[in-house]
Amino acid sequence: MLRQPLLLLARSTKVKDLVSTMPVSSGIVNRFVPGETTDAAVTATHDLIESGLHVTLDFLGEDTLDREQADQTVAAYLDLLSSLSERGLARNAEVSVKLSAIGQALPDEGEKVALENARTICHAARNAGTTVTLDMEDHTTTDSTLGILRELRKDFPETGAVLQAYLRRTEADCRDLAYEGSRVRLCKGAYKEPESVAFQDRAEVDKSYVRCLKVLMAGQGYPMVASHDPRMIDIAGALATRYNRTQGSYEYQMLFGIRPDEQQRLAESGEKVRVYLPYGGEWYGYLMRRMAERPSNLRFFLRSLVSK
Ligand code: FDA
Repeated sequence: MLRQPLLLLARSTKVKDLVSTMPVSSGIVNRFVPGETTDAAVTATHDLIESGLHVTLDFLGEDTLDREQADQTVAAYLDLLSSLSERGLARNAEVSVKLSAIGQALPDEGEKVALENARTICHAARNAGTTVTLDMEDHTTTDSTLGILRELRKDFPETGAVLQAYLRRTEADCRDLAYEGSRVRLCKGAYKEPESVAFQDRAEVDKSYVRCLKVLMAGQGYPMVASHDPRMIDIAGALATRYNRTQGSYEYQMLFGIRPDEQQRLAESGEKVRVYLPYGGEWYGYLMRRMAERPSNLRFFLRSLVSK
């Protein structure tokens, strides 16, 4: 019941300004976002890798309408990639990028700016010895993001993308992207979407997730199973067996702070597991989406606000 209002609040600049004064160190923020700085992110990455996990890092930010801010985000990724490389972590850690944080939402030339900026990040990632995966935002950006993916893959074929099972179009997108060399991170989807484009019922979303997973596991690409749902994880394992995939020819992915014991359990059973690690000061929209997924998190969040 709370999901829709929380997703609306995720885009409210007024509430954002009010809440964002809270330090990242406060309980609930810190559970999902380990720090604001490159150093904090790299230290958390080091610890996860030490415990047998892989990592993908997201410098938080989205819906940027300011060219300078987009450029600062690119600079933050370059700084991050050089730190990962210096610390010898780039083999096990890649980066995730929201195109709206690097210019996609700018009026007029947004798409062009985002493509140029994404190219710069892909270049730095390749020099560091790692890869980039494009996050997927609300449905109005899907065509643009997949278009930018196609352009990037001409020079950087290692670039991956996220697809969201709640969108009615996604099974077809999975078919398009299930080719050799392609990397697809399949998630359920975290934005408020209209019925015309997205399944609203959780059971329908789960069924779509399984259909999409089948396409990806049967295909020639590299499926990245991004879910904490025990049923989706079991089904992914069964499909991997059905399609004769060996461990490491696909991977599981979960968000930092969610089901860490399960992340560890899967890794210890020989599976490749990657943790999505967000960092930076722009944590508001990300945190609100985590509240919407599990409104019981809201209690802890409100408590952190009151004790601010
Ligand atoms: P579901 O929501 O059914 O949750 C299953 C179980 O997981 C819950 O019962 C609970 O135990 C646990 N859980 C889930 N969310 C929790 C939370 N917030 N707090 C505590 N426990 C929780 N979305 C998007 O639209 N675009 C994107 O680019 C990405 N990228 C992305 C990357 C990765 C690596 C992951 C794992 C997820 C994303 N997402 C995303 C988010 C995704 O769309 C989805 O909203 C969440 O993963 C929750 O869906 P589940 O598949 O986990 O199932």
